[in-house]
Amino acid sequence: MNNSDWIARGEAVFAGTYTRFPAAIVKGEGCRLWDADGKEYLDFLSGIAVCSLGHCHPAVTEAICAQAKKLLHVSNLFYTEPQTELAELLTEHSFAERVFFCNSGAEANEAAIKLARIYSSSTGRYEVISLSGSFHGRTLATVAATGQPKFHKGFEPLPTGFIHADFGAPEAIERLISSKTCAILCEPIQGESGVRPLPTEYLQAIRTICDRHGLLLIFDEVQTGIGRTGTLFAYEQCGVVPDIMTLAKALGNGLPIGAMLTRAKIAAAFTPGTHASTFGGNAVAAAAGVAVLQTMLTDGFFEDLRQRSSYFVQRLEGLVERFPQLCAGVRGRGMLLGLVLTEKGIAHGPEIVRRMFERGILINFAGMQALRFIPPLTVSRTEIDQVVDALTLELAGLE
Ligand SMILES: Cc1ncc(COP(=O)(O)O)c(C=O)c1O
Repeated sequence: MNNSDWIARGEAVFAGTYTRFPAAIVKGEGCRLWDADGKEYLDFLSGIAVCSLGHCHPAVTEAICAQAKKLLHVSNLFYTEPQTELAELLTEHSFAERVFFCNSGAEANEAAIKLARIYSSSTGRYEVISLSGSFHGRTLATVAATGQPKFHKGFEPLPTGFIHADFGAPEAIERLISSKTCAILCEPIQGESGVRPLPTEYLQAIRTICDRHGLLLIFDEVQTGIGRTGTLFAYEQCGVVPDIMTLAKALGNGLPIGAMLTRAKIAAAFTPGTHASTFGGNAVAAAAGVAVLQTMLTDGFFEDLRQRSSYFVQRLEGLVERFPQLCAGVRGRGMLLGLVLTEKGIAHGPEIVRRMFERGILINFAGMQALRFIPPLTVSRTEIDQVVDALTLELAGLE
């Protein structure tokens, strides 16, 4: 079976929700993938910021295999070793004291929204303010929270209780606050809409607004969390501590797992029967999560990552200098980086991604603004060079 066979079979049976690269991936190792035709790819997408330790990291594979031989699943009617260990690691290394496990980013945000509502229910507050350009998931509530009308279209009427503030100005948020508001929800860096970091002063102002009005601050760290930005959580770099934080993507390095973290006082609003997930914190996914955190928490992991990130940023800035007609700037932190394109560059964005794919390099074009680079955090300088050198050739061809 080659690529064409798999593509034909897939097209005959899949719902049409995705635009896929024309490749059936059969194997991965580190930053490399191989397709059914034997073509090798350098993966700077990591399954959309998921395989942060690289594909088939030995510690994660070993943890999954060992757990699969012992126990796959018992539901949350019981306690399990890996789920408890993972919650202990997450609370030990964050502001949080309590964890609710689920299976995806959207579910983690659903849990956060439900918690904010039930916590505030005695005051009659239920409305969540999020930001324009945000992305919070594809369930109806998280679509409603997402500040991009293109994701709403066709799904109306959406659940009520969600409003969006213009990105960038704290006053725009404050103007929307009413006696109905219970929380502000935001991503420290908006990944899907083109790697747009929220400036530190902006995040600090949002924290101040929450404190002034008695609102909960929810950070969606589904994309930025678990090491992606150079620290275990992005909030650590801005000196702003949220009340609730959501995680998913890299937590299982490829196994589906999400988490909603908060302080004990807030978590107390969730009592038995208020919220649940059959698979949430499944034993195998949780075992993978423990291996992920233990690996990232080894000495020097983040220091080394930050050095390679600086090198990557420097090389991307070289492209901005060399191709000012096409490239406008570099955004992001750690290994969540965007090369922002100019108007002329934007017209070529999808074509650049396609041509890089043909060269065996996987990147994407986020928010119709920036080429996004989200390689495994373990990516080497040589691999960074390979990608930037290939991009240099592509950009030179467009001048
Ligand atoms: C910031 C953010 N929140 C939520 C989600 C939704 O996560 P999932 O696709 O796991 O439901 C994503 C996915 O891209 C995301 O980037």
